Amino acid sequence: MRIAMIGSGYVGLVSGACLSEFGHTVICVDKAEDKIAALKQGQIPIFEPGLDEIVAANVKGGRLAFGTDLGEAVRDADAVFIGVGTPSRRGDGHADLTYVFAAAEEIARALTGYTVVVTKSTVPVGTSRQVEAIIRKVNPAADFDMASNPEFLREGSAIEDFRRPDRVVVGCDTERARGVMREVYRPLYLNETPIVFTTRESSELIKYAANAFLATKITFINEMASLCEKVGGDVQDVARGIGLDGRIGGKFLHAGPGYGGSCFPKDTLALVKTARDAGAPTRLVEAVVAVNDQRKHAMAEKIKTAFGGVAGKTIAVLGLTFKPNTDDMRDSPSLTILPALQSAGATIRAYDPEGTREAAKLLNLTFCGDAYEALEGADGVVILTEWNEFRALDFARVKTALKTPLMVDLRNIYRPSQMAAEGFRYVSVGRSDAAPGTVVDMPQRRSESN
Ligand code: UGA
Repeated sequence: MRIAMIGSGYVGLVSGACLSEFGHTVICVDKAEDKIAALKQGQIPIFEPGLDEIVAANVKGGRLAFGTDLGEAVRDADAVFIGVGTPSRRGDGHADLTYVFAAAEEIARALTGYTVVVTKSTVPVGTSRQVEAIIRKVNPAADFDMASNPEFLREGSAIEDFRRPDRVVVGCDTERARGVMREVYRPLYLNETPIVFTTRESSELIKYAANAFLATKITFINEMASLCEKVGGDVQDVARGIGLDGRIGGKFLHAGPGYGGSCFPKDTLALVKTARDAGAPTRLVEAVVAVNDQRKHAMAEKIKTAFGGVAGKTIAVLGLTFKPNTDDMRDSPSLTILPALQSAGATIRAYDPEGTREAAKLLNLTFCGDAYEALEGADGVVILTEWNEFRALDFARVKTALKTPLMVDLRNIYRPSQMAAEGFRYVSVGRSDAAPGTVVDMPQRRSESN
């Protein structure tokens, strides 16, 4: 199967590389010549574990190539995926579809033979039909079908997510297009991945509904964390206790400083706008957006309180990206929390394993080469992102480096009892210092013969 991937940003690059690993011949196209030149040299513009190896192996195997000529890539393709960016439109929060529509026009001019054109970027309900109309207008003779195939990859584990997805969602109206999409995902049939075929509108909405639901789950547990702090509960026990109910599920119930990243903030906002425009407002998602925004400010206040005021104090910060295993700083809670601390008079010394380059464009603070350098002479440390290397800090070294043994852990990577024993004043999220933690007895299932 020959595939053209239009747009070589995060979604395009990861999907294109993984589809080539499935055995298809893939050309990833992008307008940015420098990006394509770098990719041709084997340089990957984003940090995503495992991506460089997949790209290198499939380029070597002749299944993956990069180029700037959209027409050439589309001409021979059986399926053309649109994976260009859909940023939030300035001012109104709607997804900006300029790049999608521009790609549609170019694709229309290049189509030859039957082709399935697939929207892979996250696009509002109805976009696939708009793209179809554009292509028909520009090239009325084109022989094509449209499909919607949203992406559910998580940054940091995108390769694994692509290889072993919980499900694949495809929206299309014809059996012919379904046949092509089945062929695209054929390797996943081997491990019995559910492939949900539906209408294009449902497919587009599934993507937004999934992200909004996950954002809601996180926001719910964050509110429970605040309540735990007031009434003396432990949010991790609460998460465990509710998560063991199969109807709720234990995933995405980690309390923290609020969700960030390139997807949840943008997609929840876009869903709110779409729903309002459609006359069916999603008041729940509107509340999630507002609560999450407010949470980041509340975290700055929490840090100020823990430090007894931050004016004139030096704060060591570990982690700047919105989550570990990425260099992505988009909508990271650090972008709200740290400037708030700085305006209150704090000096920040920060370390992030991969995010420094991106963070330096957005934050004006002292960037350090490792965690211990950041801690040197600080009045306390704040953990903002749960990178693995922060999970096993050498406490003796930490205490020697800090002026006072104060740790504010907004990701709950340590246990309060452990930190107290190590001699730290430890402030975490939704846990009282005295809480011993849950013990869950899991009785052995009785064997079938009993
Ligand atoms: C998210 C979805 O998980 C993917 O399925 C989806 O494909 C992607 O958006 C997208 O639309 O492209 P991602 O933004 O990479 O993926 O990151 P997540 O792992 O979902 O984390 C998002 C934010 O939620 C992070 O700030 C993270 O720290 C926070 N989070 C997540 C919590 O605070 N608690 C949790 O329990 C889980």
